[in-house]
Amino acid sequence: MDAELFMEQRVNALAPETLVYCDPPYFAQAHRLYLNTYLPDDHTRLARVIQGKLRRPWLVSYDGHPTIISLYRKRRKFRYSLQYSAVRTYAGSEVFVFSDSLLIPGTSALPCIAKALPSLRRSA
Ligand SMILES: C[S@@+](CC[C@H](N)C(=O)[O-])C[C@H]1O[C@@H](n2cnc3c(N)ncnc32)[C@H](O)[C@@H]1O
Repeated sequence: MDAELFMEQRVNALAPETLVYCDPPYFAQAHRLYLNTYLPDDHTRLARVIQGKLRRPWLVSYDGHPTIISLYRKRRKFRYSLQYSAVRTYAGSEVFVFSDSLLIPGTSALPCIAKALPSLRRSA
């Protein structure tokens, strides 16, 4: 089922306490990873559906590309570095974006998340 329809029709019908995790195809380097990949307009449309039509709390993870940051500019988010190894090994940046309704804990046992929490609270 198409992801956008799936979110509007199926996910919105799930229990209100459902947490939705979206891990869309990467924005950059996508042609190297997928056969039939999302084009920039697809990412834009997806961002509109997630932010405008999804009625359950959600988080999204993406590569930290400026276009993605801009598509989700009004939402709380944090970026972190990681090592990719799917095609070749290199350091990259990823971003987690959070829906406005999502309650985010004040502390975390994971250092990289604990470090990001104060900035999340500031932008809330
Ligand atoms: C970042 S990965 C998500 C991986 C997933 N979280 C997991 O643990 O398996 C993005 C996924 O989107 C899929 N994908 C890429 N292009 C797609 C397309 N046009 N339509 C549907 N899925 C696509 C890829 O095959 C890949 O599994």
